[in-house]
Amino acid sequence: MRTPKTTVTSSPQHSSSSPVIQLTDVSKQFGSLQVLDHINLTVEPGEKIAVIGASGCGKSTLLRCINALEAVDEGTINVNGMSLNDPGLDINAYRARIGTVFQDYNLFPHLTVLENLILGPVKVKKVPKAQAIEQAKLLLEQIGILDKINAYPENLSGGQQQRVAIARSLAMEPSVILFDEPTSALDPQMTRSVQAMIEQVAQVGMTLLMVTHDIAFARRVADRILFMHNGQIEEEGSPDQLLDQPKKETTRAFLADL
Ligand SMILES: Nc1ncnc2c1ncn2[C@@H]1O[C@H](COP(=O)(O)OP(=O)(O)OP(=O)(O)O)[C@@H](O)[C@H]1O
Ligand SMILES: [Mg+2]
Repeated sequence: MRTPKTTVTSSPQHSSSSPVIQLTDVSKQFGSLQVLDHINLTVEPGEKIAVIGASGCGKSTLLRCINALEAVDEGTINVNGMSLNDPGLDINAYRARIGTVFQDYNLFPHLTVLENLILGPVKVKKVPKAQAIEQAKLLLEQIGILDKINAYPENLSGGQQQRVAIARSLAMEPSVILFDEPTSALDPQMTRSVQAMIEQVAQVGMTLLMVTHDIAFARRVADRILFMHNGQIEEEGSPDQLLDQPKKETTRAFLADL
């Protein structure tokens, strides 16, 4: 498997300088459990933000609320200038430019790699099929797995599947990609290949919001790290600030336990 080096090209960014993502006082409960507790978060175009925190603190729920897989109880979420509180919101348009790469179950198992890559552009963005195929081939070439274009996901390694999943997100020209522990199901070698691809995507200016347990990776890629605790953003800062000079005792305790 060839590890991609420097070739992922930039896709168009959010056109204005307004925030890509803005959460204002977002709260959510599951029953009596307060999973998100007055979250305020602004993600500017091109920012790379890592979210860390103990299991169950609400990291995945935060991402799932942003891409509207979960509804919030209170507060507002805006992405690309569209508000989830807007009763007239076109939810497909809202989701179309939010890339999402989760731990697993990313690709459609009954579709080939090529079919996975062109589905969104053709169905949602109405890109002509021939153009979508050309774009897909280019992306696959860039990540070094053009030879797998007609393979089904089950015949790809986990690392290759995740790289195709990232390529599929890129094919939609997202304004932001949400990653939820994208390498936690992978062995170290595959982890490196997927992380290399995420780093390339970061380097070409994509806006990223990623949940990770890999602190070294967060330090390499993120320009801001959020530490979540009990549904709140307990502390945030640059990697050096947050990881080397945490202000809160809870942050120190979490980092000391890793
Ligand atoms: N659909 C649901 N119904 C009820 N409770 C839920 C649901 N989804 C999540 N929870 C609970 O909400 C809390 C936060 O879950 P979440 O998945 O956001 O945590 P997390 O920070 O991503 O944890 P991990 O690091 O283990 O992935 C947990 O206590 C979880 O059990
Ligand atoms: Mg999670």
